[in-house]
Amino acid sequence: MDKLIQGGTLVLPAGPTPGDLLLRGEIIAQIGRDLPYDPQTTEIFPADGCYVFPGFIDTHTHFQLDNGVVVSPDDFASGSAAALLGGTTTILDFATQNRGETLAQGLDNWHAMADGKTHCDYGFHLAVTWWNPSIAREITSVAAAGVTSFKVYMAYDNLRLRDQEIFALLEKVGEVGGILGCHCENGDLINCLIQRLRLANRLGVDAHPLSRPPEVEAEAIYRYLTIAKMAGAPVNIVHLSTAAGLAVVEAARAQGQEVYVETCPQYLLLEQSRYSQPDFRGAVYVMSPPLRRAADQEALWRGLALGQVDTVGTDHCSFNLAGQKDLGREDFTKIPNGIPGAQHRPLLLYTYGVAAGRVGIGDMARLLAENPAKLFGLYPRKGALAPGGDGDAVIWDPRQTGVISAANQRHNVDNTPYEGMAVTGGPRQVFLRGQLVVADGRLVAERQGRYLARAASLRFRRGI
Ligand code: URP
Ligand code: ZN
Repeated sequence: MDKLIQGGTLVLPAGPTPGDLLLRGEIIAQIGRDLPYDPQTTEIFPADGCYVFPGFIDTHTHFQLDNGVVVSPDDFASGSAAALLGGTTTILDFATQNRGETLAQGLDNWHAMADGKTHCDYGFHLAVTWWNPSIAREITSVAAAGVTSFKVYMAYDNLRLRDQEIFALLEKVGEVGGILGCHCENGDLINCLIQRLRLANRLGVDAHPLSRPPEVEAEAIYRYLTIAKMAGAPVNIVHLSTAAGLAVVEAARAQGQEVYVETCPQYLLLEQSRYSQPDFRGAVYVMSPPLRRAADQEALWRGLALGQVDTVGTDHCSFNLAGQKDLGREDFTKIPNGIPGAQHRPLLLYTYGVAAGRVGIGDMARLLAENPAKLFGLYPRKGALAPGGDGDAVIWDPRQTGVISAANQRHNVDNTPYEGMAVTGGPRQVFLRGQLVVADGRLVAERQGRYLARAASLRFRRGI
């Protein structure tokens, strides 16, 4: 059967437009006003009073992440189910090379966790944690096989590369038309600050942000952009959290450098005082980079509205409070870093962005779908409502209301940093490649996710 989404407001690249969307097989067949249809072969989905968005893309998940001590409880099944229920039809997870492994081995490990289990479409960025000439050669082969985005860490002693290695990696990724994202925090400074906090016996949760102040991010961004400029490669800054970091990016852009920026809902909505919550509750918010101050949040919201920030991913990396985060009761450095978010990202951006008047409805589609698809080699197959593209669509009902809670989330974890936050709007139906996969808050088709080999990064003019 064809599926006709009828009478909604289509959130098109050109702007919100009243109309119908016809899905045939796996693709979008037609878009227009009052589209004709055959009632014998067409199922109708009324969308009056609703927006119709392209399926959202989460640029940043860590499902089933093994941090060397514990494994995050959201695997590709629960994490992708949660994502779909929130309207996200594609996730890009970070396959991570173990030191001593080839890139191909890293990818194989991630396929073993994801294939056959994932409910939404998925692809992998590849985090490079070990560098030598044979790894450099492998960049060419993995890019040809459809992995065109990479990541490097400047923090975490077991993951980070040295500056000279980042330089070589950037040159290589630039050569294959890919994009290198970076976790920008100065790992040496963090180690030094942790050592000082330890000597001062400051090991409670509220010391976490003191070990990673804004300067640690801003310095790393400056250094990363300097290296990227020398390498002549475009770059992506993942999970940007500070006004200072954004100012460094803007200064580089003003000099003509091509820099893309991702932020996350937690840095837009949650403030640093959360770490002082009683009864170890602050551990819920332990992530890196840490939560910041109100002025940083304002700078990031402004950055979204002005097109300075290109994508909003989640950095979903959930850990239970009981049995995992509480390993750090006596020492915050032992609290596994990360929070859940895959299910709630569109809800949060709609409620606190669109409905609050901070960003427009078109901005939401650009930040959650179009820009990610362009940057990560999925456009125009995904990322926009356009004939010939994948039939990924979300009927978004602005009249829905709810309250986020660990008790009602699909994430397989015992906490959420957004506990108690009121939300408006939500997905009434979600379609993945033409198939109805979510209806009225329930997953109605399971394990339909397909692995996505991707093209080279399509560069775009920011803020357009
Ligand atoms: O705290 C976080 N963000 N954990 C996930 C790994 C990372 O830093 O990207
Ligand atoms: Zn990171």
